[in-house]
Amino acid sequence: MQAELRVDKLRVLITREQIAAKVAQMGERITADFAGESLVLIGVLKGATIFLADLARQIKLDTTFDFIAVSSYGSGKQQSGEVRLLKDVDLAVEGRNIMLVEDILDTGLTLTYLKNMLQAHRPKSLKIAALLDKISRRTEAIAGDYVGFIIPDEFVVGYGLDFAERYRNLPDICVLESNSETG
Ligand code: IMP
Ligand code: MG
Repeated sequence: MQAELRVDKLRVLITREQIAAKVAQMGERITADFAGESLVLIGVLKGATIFLADLARQIKLDTTFDFIAVSSYGSGKQQSGEVRLLKDVDLAVEGRNIMLVEDILDTGLTLTYLKNMLQAHRPKSLKIAALLDKISRRTEAIAGDYVGFIIPDEFVVGYGLDFAERYRNLPDICVLESNSETG
């Protein structure tokens, strides 16, 4: 009975207040670093949407935003190793300052793929803003230019991050302690 209502165990890792303070700091740094320039934020769907919405409002520059979608994870917790482009950018990239906005840097496969793809469009500059960094999991030689929090190797959800599409709406970032792999 009620098998679909399985409740996972969640433990708060980063509170909404900590996130808000960090995002404000990141926005200030980006504003200072790009003073006098315009900036295109490119969010990676869907995980980066909430971070991008908050970060964009902390950037006091002439800013536009766009979204890109990739598939690499399926519905579980394991990276499949294959990145596929599902939705390209709508705006022109050539000659612009581009900030790739991502929820989390894990193995680095996704952002390595996207960075190479966007670099081919000859932007003026190309930087990465990642709210979270699971640095111990990295297999690719890539680093974020603006990183919010370095976190341990635990599966997290909330503030845009999902497990099988769930939990994106949690205001805090939480460790998912369920042992379910099926979603
Ligand atoms: P990477 O390509 O391994 O760096 O993976 C980056 C993507 O994996 C992120 O955009 C997330 O969608 C997903 N991901 C990695 N770790 C987590 C996690 O702990 N929770 C939710 N999604 C994650
Ligand atoms: Mg993602």
